Amino acid sequence: MKTAIIGTGYVGLTTGVALAYLGHEVTCLDLDAAKVENLKKGISPIYEPHLSELMKLASAKLKFTLDADEALRNAEVVFIAVGTPSLPDGNPNLTYLKSAAESIGERINAPYVVIVNKSTVPIGSGNWVESLVRDSYRAKNPAKNSNFVVASNPEFLREGSALSDMLYADRVVVGADDQRALDVLRKLYQPLIEQTFEAPAFLPRPEGFRAVHFLTSDLQSAELIKYAANAFLALKISFINEISELSEKVGADIQHVSRGIGLDSRIGNRFLQAGIGWGGSCFGKDTAALISTGKEYGLSMPITKAARDVNARQRARMVEILMGELKILKGRKIGILGLSFKPFTDDLRDSPALDIAQRLLERGAKVVGFDPISMDRAKREWTHIPVEFAASADAVFSEADAVLLVTDWPDFKNLPFEKCAEQMKHKLILDGRGQLEPGRLQAAGIRHIALGRSTR
Ligand code: UDX
Repeated sequence: MKTAIIGTGYVGLTTGVALAYLGHEVTCLDLDAAKVENLKKGISPIYEPHLSELMKLASAKLKFTLDADEALRNAEVVFIAVGTPSLPDGNPNLTYLKSAAESIGERINAPYVVIVNKSTVPIGSGNWVESLVRDSYRAKNPAKNSNFVVASNPEFLREGSALSDMLYADRVVVGADDQRALDVLRKLYQPLIEQTFEAPAFLPRPEGFRAVHFLTSDLQSAELIKYAANAFLALKISFINEISELSEKVGADIQHVSRGIGLDSRIGNRFLQAGIGWGGSCFGKDTAALISTGKEYGLSMPITKAARDVNARQRARMVEILMGELKILKGRKIGILGLSFKPFTDDLRDSPALDIAQRLLERGAKVVGFDPISMDRAKREWTHIPVEFAASADAVFSEADAVLLVTDWPDFKNLPFEKCAEQMKHKLILDGRGQLEPGRLQAAGIRHIALGRSTR
């Protein structure tokens, strides 16, 4: 099917490449000329494992353009995947969504068009998008009846595993108030639902994986599913982090507690890794949006609020624990291992590392950071604070009064800790992800404190 994708960010690009790989004729539209030029050369603007390889495999069906006419003219399905970043009051900024909707209305002319909200949008905005498209369509075609429907198709992609999350999804959710639109989207996703596509060698189909749930609903339910899913995942993490603070006090080990509750099939063991908590562009934004939507209806959303409060506290706790150990931070040198908000991505949005670095710098400490992938981006984006950058993970330990592990990149587990210890002024590591082996560090003479384990 002729498919247009508006916006080539994490969601738009992943969706476009995957749909082209499934065999659809996909044209991706963006307003950033440099980004489009690179995409035409097969260069991905984001670090997403296997994205460039899949772009190559799908290249015959994949186009990138700055020209809205070229992208939208004959499209049967149009995905809106533009950014909806948070405004200071927690509401999403819908400027890009509005201009995308108006641009669509002016250009679509296929007999029947399904316009799909892929961006995370406030609940009920599907109707708003429909009215925007209709107004701009009517202005352009006063005598013609428009023939389009707006649907919601929320994404559940995790950065760093976006392609496998899409090709081997737990479920595809589509919401629309028109059965024909749901049928069009079922057809679009057919190869995914039935797993009939050839699995890429670098992204093999999981053992025994045969089909994807295709859930249809009304528009509002699909929009709410997205927010509720992210809020629950954020809550799960904040719950284990709330328990982790208590477990430190009572001398328990949060990793045993997490495993012990996670083995209960009703709870499940995923998203129960205690530590410095969540960052990224979604959990913070979506929980804030859910709270502000609740407020519009006079609902206080206390559980979603608590998830955010506990998460914010985790970052502060890292600094509190450090102050408890070093007493004075002024003039100290603190190393930070990991800058991205999670491993296998270069995304720094709402990164705990940035938050902690700012708190340390405010207290007069010197901060030296390292990240295997996101350093270039950090050097470009963190110009507002005097963070220094180390050439390697080991170099972070040189003359350090303490080193904080903030992102659980696998390589950090196997650093030469004996050698690192020799370079440190104070042999202290705060393990913000509970990732390091206590025995290994003890053997190297390094005091290891992990969130959720007693500091005995
Ligand atoms: C999330 C949702 O998982 C995804 O479904 C949605 O589409 C977008 O938002 P993402 O933000 O990319 O995906 O990453 P995710 O893997 O969910 O991790 C989010 C944050 O939670 C990261 O900072 C991660 O370090 C943290 N996390 C995750 C924990 O602290 N503990 C865990 O157990 C899991």
